[in-house]
Parts: sequence; structure tokens; C-alpha cells
Amino acid sequence: MSVFEQPDFDSHEEVAFFDDKSSGLKAIIAIHSTALGPACGGTRMYPYADGDAALVDVLRLSRGMSFKSAMAGLPLGGGKAVIIGDPATDKTEARLLAYANAINALGGRYVTAMDVGIVPADMPVIARGTKHIAGYDQPGKTGGDSGPLTALGVFVGLKAAVKHRLGADTARGLTIAIQGLGKVGMGLAERLRAEGARLLVADVDAARVKKAVERFDARAISTDEIVTIECDVLSPNAMGAILNDRTIEQLKARVVAGGANNQLERDEHGAKLTANGVLYAPDYVINGGGIIRVAGQIYEWSDAEIECRVLAIGDTLSRIFTRAEREALPTSIIADRMAQERIAKA
Ligand code: NAI
Repeated sequence: MSVFEQPDFDSHEEVAFFDDKSSGLKAIIAIHSTALGPACGGTRMYPYADGDAALVDVLRLSRGMSFKSAMAGLPLGGGKAVIIGDPATDKTEARLLAYANAINALGGRYVTAMDVGIVPADMPVIARGTKHIAGYDQPGKTGGDSGPLTALGVFVGLKAAVKHRLGADTARGLTIAIQGLGKVGMGLAERLRAEGARLLVADVDAARVKKAVERFDARAISTDEIVTIECDVLSPNAMGAILNDRTIEQLKARVVAGGANNQLERDEHGAKLTANGVLYAPDYVINGGGIIRVAGQIYEWSDAEIECRVLAIGDTLSRIFTRAEREALPTSIIADRMAQERIAKA
């Protein structure tokens, strides 16, 4: 199937295929839009079943990056790259350097960062061959760990959601179920606890659960139960597709606000949440702290400016919630529309 016939093709500005025989690199870089700035998004290395599967992924992910950066108010467009291969066995220095050349071929219209399969140690290798790279620790320019800023954005976004739906000015006294206690979930738990929330927590890693129980007086819940337990807010901070036909019908929370990417299994699940009276904070808006961190490194913003932009995530979400109510549409659709409007205006 040609690129043009792919259902996920959204008039992307450019889709570039790289097949470097000498290194064995096979990669696709998709630039969805540069209307707001250079297309930025991570590189994913994954053993895709075939080229079509890789193409679908890169088309979808690059469009998602356009929307994410637009809603974070950043001077960045949306792009993404996929390297076809198993990161455990197929990653060689020669391939990473060939990949750097591929990025250079796009003349700065695409700036890469990290994604699944690319680890911090790979970034300086790619950076030997290209300057169009960000989102990792560089000498004199920290930028690697975006977890704390993502957690801050989720915290202010969650508060905007409970203010809108429950009329609560703080998280004090609210029961909040946190799924996933990694960089984002643990940071969020700390902030919520400091404000007096009651925490229910779940993680497949028992040591992380123990830590949260001890540090935040949280109650441990099984990973199956956490999504459907009685609570005010569900905060997914682990894997995607957690909001689906099965879970939405059993959801007791009135607000869903968490940092995980791709929380809706399918687009229609946004409408299902609305129909069931659940306020959903669109994932790519509430978890914008990570891309704001990357933008801050590219444009050399001060820590204060970066934080200010992350705090604005709360206001952006409030505008989405208000408009969704006014237009009687799901918040997920309103977020997409607002992102498309921002891109079109540019
Ligand atoms: P992480 O890898 O540090 O933490 C994920 C946690 O989820 C781990 O503790 C893991 O054990 C747990 N987990 C995995 N499967 C689970 C399950 N079935 N039930 C309960 N817990 C489970 O990842 P991080 O950085 O905290 O990211 C969390 C989510 O936020 C991911 O979806 C990520 O894509 C998204 N995100 C992260 C950003 C960042 O800056 N770190 C930026 C934007 C999105």
C-alpha cells in the first residue's frame, strides 16, 4: 500500500525512507507539520513485523507530536522516526551514525529525541553525526530526565480537572487512584500527598508500591483493581489503552487525569467517557511537560520559563473542559480541534 492510501496519512509534509545498505539501517522519518516550528519527536527502535507496521506507527506518532506541541504552545511542529530492528541485537554504532545522516538529510526540519528502544547512551552517538537532536543530558545543558516536569504538569492538570468537575480547589481529602509509580506516577504521588489527598496505588513492581505506602501513607491495590476502584480520580501513569470497552463500564472515578500516553484504546472511547459522566483530561495535553522540557533545551529557556510553561497546562485544560461542555463534545475531540486550529492559524 502506498503512503497516500494509508488511513493514518494526514497530509504529512514529508515521509522519508532510509535504507542504508552498508550499515543495515532501515528507518522512516515522518514530518507531519512544521507550521509552528521544526518537527520534533523521538526516535523509536522496534522490531516491526514489516515496513507497513512501521509506517503506520510513524504516521500516527508524528501527528500526535504536532498536536502535543501545539497544545503546549510550543514553537515546534510534529515529527517522529522509527528504526526497524531489535534494539537488543540490531543496534550498532554504524547504524546510529547512518541514522544521524538521515536526520541531516532533512536539513533541520526534523529534530530528534528519545523514545522506546533508544536509551540515553545512544544519544551522544547519534549526536556525533547530527546537531538536530535534543532531550538528553549534554555538557552544560541538562535535558534528559523530563519525569519531574511531566509529573508537575499532570499535578496541575489533575487539579484543573477536579476544580472543573468536583468544584475542589485542592486535592485535600480527595481519593486518588494512581496506576504506575515510575518517574511520573511517583512524582505525582508526592505532590498529591503533600496537599492532603488519600492515595490508592498500584504497580507491577512491588518495591515501588512499598515505597509509596511507606512514604505517602498510600493504600496498595492490585493492578487489576486500581482502574475500577471507588475513588474521585483515576490517574493512569503506566501503559496505554487503559480506557477501553471493559474498563470504562466499570469506572467509578468521575475524573481521569494521568500522564500515560495513548490512554484511549480507540478514539470513540473519549465519547464513551463523556456519556458516562467522566471528565477526561486528554493525555497529550496533560503530559506535555516532557516536550516542554525538550523545547526548553532546544531554545535554551531558563528553568523558570520552562516551569511557567508547564504550569500553564492547567489553564489549557480548563479551556478544553469549558469548550467541551459548551459544544457538548468529548474533551478528546475538543483537544484535537484546538490543536488543529492552532496549526492552521500558523
Ligand atoms: P516509568 O517507566 O518510569 O514508569 C512506569 C511505571 O509503570 C513503572 O513503575 C512500571 O512498573 C509501571 N507499570 C507497568 N505496567 C503496569 C501495570 N500493568 N500496572 C501498574 N503499573 C505498571 O515511566 P514514566 O516515565 O513514569 O512514564 C509513565 C507514562 O507516562 C508512560 O506511559 C509514558 O509514555 C508517559 N509519559 C512520560 C513522560 C516523561 O517525561 N517521563 C512524558 C510524557 C508521557
